[in-house]
Amino acid sequence: MAAERIDGKAFAAALRERIAAAVPAFSREAGRKPGLAVVLVGNDPASEVYVRSKGKATVAAGMKSFEHKLDADIGQESLIALIHQLNEDEGVDGILVQLPLPDGYDEGEVVAAIDPAKDVDGLTAENVARLANNEPGLRPCTPWGCMMLLHDRLGDDLSGLDAVIMGRSQLVGRPMAQLLVNANCTVTIAHSRTRNLEEIVRRADIVVAAVGRPEMVRGSWLKDGAVVVDVGINRLDPEPGQERGRLVGDVAYEEADHVKAITPVPGGVGPMTIAVLLRNTLVAAHRRAGLPDPEGL
Ligand code: GUN
Repeated sequence: MAAERIDGKAFAAALRERIAAAVPAFSREAGRKPGLAVVLVGNDPASEVYVRSKGKATVAAGMKSFEHKLDADIGQESLIALIHQLNEDEGVDGILVQLPLPDGYDEGEVVAAIDPAKDVDGLTAENVARLANNEPGLRPCTPWGCMMLLHDRLGDDLSGLDAVIMGRSQLVGRPMAQLLVNANCTVTIAHSRTRNLEEIVRRADIVVAAVGRPEMVRGSWLKDGAVVVDVGINRLDPEPGQERGRLVGDVAYEEADHVKAITPVPGGVGPMTIAVLLRNTLVAAHRRAGLPDPEGL
């Protein structure tokens, strides 16, 4: 039986519609629109594309977008001064500093400068601790998007399922593991030093691949009926006559027809990240205004 294709693009579009529908009620109650500030340092082309799409999606959802594009040599101190200014700005509910920062910046110090109440990436020590303790807080966008897709396929209760996460990054692997533990899964974090990787992946009911290595996970590694979430976005070298190579994930999608469901690349996890960023911004806005969290998001 062919695997179900998990349509993250459609799921994200529906989430964005629910967010856009919830924004006017906030704006009425608070007397202002929710606001998201995105800070980009330098001119990495991929980051520029992401930042532009975040800005567009923010405005399309009826929120205010504040874009700060800084020269690569602006310096740590000026960047932190801008973050302090955004922390103080009543109209800003969410602050996202696009990562990675150019060489020479101390990312840890920059993230630590963000007000945890506006930390829509869920990266500050306070939000990391809240996630670890399973307390309310702001959660990193990509892992939260993956959880939404998993719940959509597997239902509310993930108790007792074996989950293997490949990758231990702060943005994806680590928070993903915490979210799955909080959902009562049995969680293994695999990484570049893991031994017997194939064997470990083969026992998983849930596989989350976030290693950034094109089609590393072969179909033969996946057990029948697994649900596979592919966070990787890798561009292959162009074939002769092509200008650009194909985008592929960390999983060999074509080989995975025996699994229960799998996210494609592109069109799987990718579109979820921005949708969850908007969700987190709206949630942060409600909490800052002393309003109950919006429902159904
Ligand atoms: N770079 C790639 N993904 C992300 C993300 O989710 N947040 C931030 N801040 N930077 C990123």
